[in-house]
Amino acid sequence: MISKINRLKKEKSAVILAHYYQTADIQDLADFIGDSLELAQKAKETEADIIVFAGVHFMAETAKILNPSKKILLPDLEAGCSLSDSCRAEDLEKAKEEYPDRKIIAYANCSAAVKELVDITCTSGNAVKIVESFAPDQRLLFVPDKNLGGYINRITGRNMDLWDGSCAIHDMLSAENVLALARQHPEAKIIAHPECNPAVLALAKFIGSTSAMLRHISSDSGQSYIVATETGITHQMKKAAPNKTFYIVSNDQTCACNDCPHMKKNTIEKLYTCLRDETPEIILSPQTIERARKPIEAMLAVAPPVPR
Ligand code: 13P
Repeated sequence: MISKINRLKKEKSAVILAHYYQTADIQDLADFIGDSLELAQKAKETEADIIVFAGVHFMAETAKILNPSKKILLPDLEAGCSLSDSCRAEDLEKAKEEYPDRKIIAYANCSAAVKELVDITCTSGNAVKIVESFAPDQRLLFVPDKNLGGYINRITGRNMDLWDGSCAIHDMLSAENVLALARQHPEAKIIAHPECNPAVLALAKFIGSTSAMLRHISSDSGQSYIVATETGITHQMKKAAPNKTFYIVSNDQTCACNDCPHMKKNTIEKLYTCLRDETPEIILSPQTIERARKPIEAMLAVAPPVPR
């Protein structure tokens, strides 16, 4: 399967971009792995005719918005996002009418229809920079993640209004589960993704995007970590620091895992058939692309690509 995919990739001048929450076999096959921000930047830079986006729907939409002439394939169109689902465009439209003085910052985990309505997007990797690009007296509405928005409020001293959305996977991780692991492994340092709830974030010694967590465990002197985010990231952590130990915080007691059911919808088999048949493809209207591109370009202008 893997050699077939590699052959098709060459024949069709395609690249595979994968998020850290994909399964290990997909991460190993990808041309580029990254956090949401890096994947958006990579999608903008690539010369390939076809991008197979091994991630979730909103990420593949972002790639399409930045590359309207390219074919963007998503191995499973049902790979959605609970955060994205928590903010519907029609509800945001009503909020805009109700609060016309707010500038709206949207975490990239939202649909293209929502991006059309906002002033700027951000990811967990650049959210502080984006929020601080607004004048201190500018009223802001942050959608859809109340956990990331609350965390940014706490560290910037802002008072953004927060949409009532969250990532089902991160929000479910409990401080009790983190503390139970910490009791078993008192030497391990707690690190967390900012989509986690405030009680978990309060326990963390380091908070950052998937890439930021990876950089942290590579350069930090610690030997073991309690990791509060999706399981997929530990594949790269083990590669980056083979002598260190990683304990993933699970959201149920039956496994030592924390899998996002959407991210895990993509499989090597689906990736192969999608590249072979060039479907499912992300299709957006030219009008949506034009409107949704503006807040993404605004974000990339404030947080320009960082070479890796
Ligand atoms: P990152 O930008 O940290 O990769 O986060 C993306 C995401 O969807 C986390 O749930």
